[in-house]
Amino acid sequence: MTPPDSDAPAPAIPIPTAEWATGRPAVPGEGPRGAPLMFVGEQPGDEEDRQGRPFVGPAGRLFTQALEEAGVERGAAYVTNAVKHFKYTQRGARRLHQSPDAGDIKLYRPFLLAEVAAVAPRFLVALGATATQALMGRKLPMLKLRGQVFEAPEELPAGLPVMLTVHPSYLLRLPDPELKKREYERFVAELRFAGQAAR
Ligand code: URA
Repeated sequence: MTPPDSDAPAPAIPIPTAEWATGRPAVPGEGPRGAPLMFVGEQPGDEEDRQGRPFVGPAGRLFTQALEEAGVERGAAYVTNAVKHFKYTQRGARRLHQSPDAGDIKLYRPFLLAEVAAVAPRFLVALGATATQALMGRKLPMLKLRGQVFEAPEELPAGLPVMLTVHPSYLLRLPDPELKKREYERFVAELRFAGQAAR
């Protein structure tokens, strides 16, 4: 796992805070300035919120393992989220993940777009439906379109390629081991493609 990167580019605008996150610190993106490859997830989870780093919980560990198998160095990429705070409901001692809604995606989107501009990657990867909506500016049937590369919408740098793929938590949730293995292998192949396309 990469250490927090002090070289992470800071967009010129402040990170927004949803009403439900008032008073809590945001989890910033992580990675070097000018990283050729940029990954966008949904939102920090419980562990990410505690550590202040993206993709360090169970989904993050699977993501990091898949990157390794794909031959993509995580530390050379920029990893961030569409929504910068952990949205949850409290159940006793546990904090249960709540999906961000369209309003959350819209609130954080200007910061995400500024982050893409600051990093200036050559290739973007949307991990899951929330990231797809945040990057492409509209809902798309991500599971049908996964593995495909689209041109970024006009709010992003002209001609920037965006590949859609699944979120690693989708892989963690699949109950059938055979399907899980197949879907994981497909995910690794997509990450390998992204790594090569960003070169
Ligand atoms: N899921 C995400 O989308 N992002 C994280 O940082 C962790 C889990």
